Amino acid sequence: MKGIVFSEFIEMVESKFSPEVADEIIGKASAKLATGGAYTSVGVYDHLELVELVTELSVLSGLPVDELVATFGKHLAGRFAELYPAFFEEVNGTLDFLESVDNHIHKEVIKLYPDAELPQFTSERIGNRLVMEYQSVRPFAALAKGLIEGSALYYGETLQVEEEDLSSGRGNHMRFTISQQLSR
Ligand code: HEM
Repeated sequence: MKGIVFSEFIEMVESKFSPEVADEIIGKASAKLATGGAYTSVGVYDHLELVELVTELSVLSGLPVDELVATFGKHLAGRFAELYPAFFEEVNGTLDFLESVDNHIHKEVIKLYPDAELPQFTSERIGNRLVMEYQSVRPFAALAKGLIEGSALYYGETLQVEEEDLSSGRGNHMRFTISQQLSR
């Protein structure tokens, strides 16, 4: 997993919790981390290191792992909007944006970073509803959920997101049904 994901995660912990909490979870997890918790944005690290860090944050904060990962996804969507604004600006709203992730955005990502490890999405659009199926060898369905919610925040839209777990709790195969609430 790309170093940018790790550095953004640690920045989120520093700002949403505190720098001390960030140090503490790195300290607690470091025995299990090959890197000892030192990441650079250009490096590539085992995604299980992120799982370790989130698990320690969950122990410390008492919040469920999935909730923390989804919160991180929301944060990451905001950061992607700052770092890669063109992807957000070239479409008109959340559903169009989400449809472009698999067939456009992640394709550009893999051209720029051939070592990126990306999930697959299939999507089907029926009017104001998008059925998006996430599949990966990594267990980051909750990250996808947060990224979906964070994208809606960017466009200022209210969406209803239903989840159907197709992975028996493994977190690597999830069907999201995303419906747009039309403003009256
Ligand atoms: C401008 C928008 C986006 C950019 C630039 C982007 C880029 C990336 C990058 C660089 C990674 C890390 C790859 C690695 O660590 O090797 C990643 C992973 C991921 N992306 Fe995106 N992404 C964007 C939007 C989205 C959205 C909206 C979703 C969800 C609908 C999404 C779902 C994911 C997930 C779940 C992963 C984790 C890897 C996995 O589950 O296997 N991305 N993306």
